[in-house]
Amino acid sequence: MAVIISIVNQKGGVAKTTTAVNAAAALGAMGKKVLLVDLDPQGNATAGLGISGGAKRELESTTYDVIMGETRPADAIVSTKFKNLWLMPATQSLAEAEIQLLQFENKNLQLKKAILQVRNDYDIIIIDCLPSLGVLALNGLNACDRIIIPMQCEPYSLEGVAELISIVKRVKKTSNRGLQIMGIVFTMVDTKLKVNREVMRAIKSKFPEDVFFNTEIPRNVRITEAPSHGEPIMYYDPNSKGADAYGRLAKEIARRCKAAEELL
Ligand SMILES: Nc1ncnc2c1ncn2[C@@H]1O[C@H](COP(=O)(O)OP(=O)(O)OP(=O)(O)O)[C@@H](O)[C@H]1O
Ligand SMILES: [Mg+2]
Repeated sequence: MAVIISIVNQKGGVAKTTTAVNAAAALGAMGKKVLLVDLDPQGNATAGLGISGGAKRELESTTYDVIMGETRPADAIVSTKFKNLWLMPATQSLAEAEIQLLQFENKNLQLKKAILQVRNDYDIIIIDCLPSLGVLALNGLNACDRIIIPMQCEPYSLEGVAELISIVKRVKKTSNRGLQIMGIVFTMVDTKLKVNREVMRAIKSKFPEDVFFNTEIPRNVRITEAPSHGEPIMYYDPNSKGADAYGRLAKEIARRCKAAEELL
């Protein structure tokens, strides 16, 4: 039975999708059977795995159809050319769900209901959330067992995280009791910048130490290039610093999944 992890941060551009795609690919390469769910109308995770342009238009069903209860998840999931990695793709249509879901009685639980149907088919399910805390994001928070919060080492990074944590607490109290933070990962780290280290120290002082992953993801130009080639970094440039870092992060995630499994 899969451990389900949502990658969340309502702040845009903090490397949620980069982390979702690259950790998913690395976990797949390690032998885990992985499903990546694109829960963002921008469809960046979908494009990052090589489905863009015409291929995107040809998709018969997507996360939108699944979350609206119109398609079974197994029918929307596609295989990818990457080892042990499957994808539930998303397109712009998913934006409509944000409004249409409001008519559902259990509007925040639609994704959970669907994902449970395929939970036994995978070892790990990773949900790439959109940068918001609306209905779609709440579906992401309710469908998962654990969340990973990617954070940039910037002076404003802490803004919004308090709000995120309080929403996580509320979801935990009301509709997803088992929900826990798997970890916070620093992304786009530039160790040459003194301000990065200072901000990192300030952020770390606000949380228990063990919540942070040991792996920090360095700023790496190869990571920026990989999505336009439709490949995770470990396939695009296996010798890059970015591939190495996401490989190490994936190992940490696998370890934390093992601990999580015992509690599920
Ligand atoms: N370690 C890195 N080094 C260099 N560039 C990076 C790194 N991580 C992410 N990026 C780049 O930063 C940009 C934002 O990353 P990404 O799309 O993963 O963020 P996001 O949080 O998913 O954004 P959104 O909130 O819009 O969904 C992308 O152009 C990505 O290629
Ligand atoms: Mg994204």
